[in-house]
Amino acid sequence: MSEAPAGSQRAAKRRSLVVGNWKMNGSAASNEALLAALKAAPLGDAEVSVCVPAVYLHDVADSLHGGAVHWGAQDCSSHESGAYTGEISAAMLAEFGCCHVIVGHSERRALHGESDALVAQKAATALKHGLVPILCVGETLAEREAGQTEAVVGRQLGAAIALLDKRIDGVVVAYEPVWAIGTGKTASPAEAQAVHSFLRKSLAAAGATSGSLRILYGGSVKADNAAQLFAEADIDGGLIGGASLKAADFIAICRAAG
Ligand code: PGA
Repeated sequence: MSEAPAGSQRAAKRRSLVVGNWKMNGSAASNEALLAALKAAPLGDAEVSVCVPAVYLHDVADSLHGGAVHWGAQDCSSHESGAYTGEISAAMLAEFGCCHVIVGHSERRALHGESDALVAQKAATALKHGLVPILCVGETLAEREAGQTEAVVGRQLGAAIALLDKRIDGVVVAYEPVWAIGTGKTASPAEAQAVHSFLRKSLAAAGATSGSLRILYGGSVKADNAAQLFAEADIDGGLIGGASLKAADFIAICRAAG
C-alpha cells in the first residue's frame, strides 16, 4: 500500500494557523478597533494569533484574554536577562500571556544583522519559556534567480535544527520569500508548495515529527489569494503583514484557512 502524501493527512494532524504580523504599526485607538472587529467576527476553524509591537502587549492581552484569538510578539532576546538595553526577554513575553513569538523575520535579519545562529538561539530561549517560536526563513530575489532557494532556506532551518534537535517539533516554520514581502508579489501556490515540501522533508530527515509541525507561508498574502495558497498540501496557514492591519481582509484570510 502506498503511503498517503503528507498533505492529505493535514486535516487530521495539523490545524491551520494564521498569524498577523503588525510590524511597527498601530496605535492604541486603531488597535482597539481592529481587535474589536476580530473578536466580533466568525473566524473559522483555524488557530488565529496576532503578533503586535511589545508596548501594546498589555492592552492586547487585556482585550483578547479568554477569547479565541491568541497573541504574541515579533522578536525576543536570545539572552535570559541582564544588561541588554532595549531588548525584551522571552520570560517577559510569557508573563504577558504571549503564545507566539516571531524569530528571524527577514527584516530583522537584513536590518539588524541577525545571523542564523542568533535566530536559532532566540527560538531555543522562546521554547524554554513556553512560547511557540515562529521561525522565518526565505530567500532574496537574487538568491532565487541564482537557483539557491533550497540552499538558503535549508541553511536557515538547519541552524535551528542543529541547536534544537528534537525540540524543533515545538517550532512553527514560516516560509517568507523576501521578494514577496510587502511587494504585492506573491509566490505562486506551486512555487510556495515546492519550498514547503522541501522544508518538510528536511525536517523529517532531521527526525522531527514533521507530520504535526506547521509550515506557514508569508509574503503578500491577501484576501483574494489566501485560499489558493492554503489549499496546497504542505501550506498550513499564513504569516500576514499588511493585510493583518485591515480587519475585513484579515478575517477573510483566517476564514480561508479554516
Ligand atoms: P506582507 O508581510 O504580508 O505585508 O507581505 C508578511 C511578513 O513580513 O510577515
